[in-house]
Amino acid sequence: MKDLIDIMDLSVADIQGLIDDAVDMMNHPEKYDSCMKGKRLAALFYEPSTRTRFSFLAAMQGLGGDVIGFTGAASSSVSKGESVHDTAKVVSELADIIVMRHNMEGAPLAAAQAVDIPVINAGDGGHAHPTQTLADLCTIYREKGRLDHLTIGVCGDLRYGRTVHSLLRALMRYEGLKVVLISPDELRLPKYVRAELEEKGIPYIETVSLEGALPLLDVLYMTRIQKERFNSLVTYDRLKNSYILDMDKLSRAKKDCIVMHPLPRVNEISVEVDDDPRACYFKQVYNGRYMRMALIRRLLLENDHHRYVPQGEIVKDKYICHNERCITSCEQEIHHYFRRIDKNHPYRCIYCEARAEEE
Ligand code: NCD
Repeated sequence: MKDLIDIMDLSVADIQGLIDDAVDMMNHPEKYDSCMKGKRLAALFYEPSTRTRFSFLAAMQGLGGDVIGFTGAASSSVSKGESVHDTAKVVSELADIIVMRHNMEGAPLAAAQAVDIPVINAGDGGHAHPTQTLADLCTIYREKGRLDHLTIGVCGDLRYGRTVHSLLRALMRYEGLKVVLISPDELRLPKYVRAELEEKGIPYIETVSLEGALPLLDVLYMTRIQKERFNSLVTYDRLKNSYILDMDKLSRAKKDCIVMHPLPRVNEISVEVDDDPRACYFKQVYNGRYMRMALIRRLLLENDHHRYVPQGEIVKDKYICHNERCITSCEQEIHHYFRRIDKNHPYRCIYCEARAEEE
């Protein structure tokens, strides 16, 4: 594997390997503290970030490597109109691995096609966030002792919440998963993720009631309403206080239900919940750094670095993606690739998952 663009790039065995490495790194940091000496990580953050960016920087430093990068396109050549493709090519001459966060869906995939060095997706628009999922899986594993036979409730902005999309797709491969989708009607989980749940025969229910769902859950995953993805602030204002977890509501949960959140929180979890032993959101930050260390080490130790080439049943430049949040809508030189699993499935844009039929 050269890149981590989507959580499905990792098998269940790969994920367990990364968790095992991360736990070893927590217990024996000195074994790893110079293993990436002489290597440089470039953090290209086109969108605001605190924990993900710092987590990657701290991860690379924990391995003895260097870091360069920018936050916000304004301070880079992007403000002069440089494409993701060109920025990635330039950076690949100066660094050994790229970590990219971008507001356009599929931007890290476009970068991975341009360069031979590994590219890690650190969040692309409302689409995916595989390294947050690694932090989440490590946390669930360490707290619950397993990743199978779990009932997970995901609550809040399931439409634009990229962390939820990646987490559910990862968990779908473990036995005994049950899912409770808790959101307002406008913020339901995208159809392509619901279709995947259905195809894999995973039982799920959709509800607007957090109170009703709470007693069922082994894991509650709260999310922020993603203000920056809304076209209308009126809609955001109407939905922003949809869910607030406080001690009163938490009293309905099982004694060993863990409460997670990718952070930042706005007001979805009252501060009083932080002292409850079930609150795990700050542990996710701790685990995330070690999972990123394990991932960077693994990608840099891998020898077969080659440019990303789309695999599977692909058509090139036959359809145009009309998703206005897709990287192909703003960068002309990118080829429009669509893929389908088999003939019973629609072709989907490989960058953002939009259906070809929807054009
Ligand atoms: C999340 C993100 O950026 O998608 N934050 C993070 O990376 N920890 C969640 C969010 O911004 O709400």
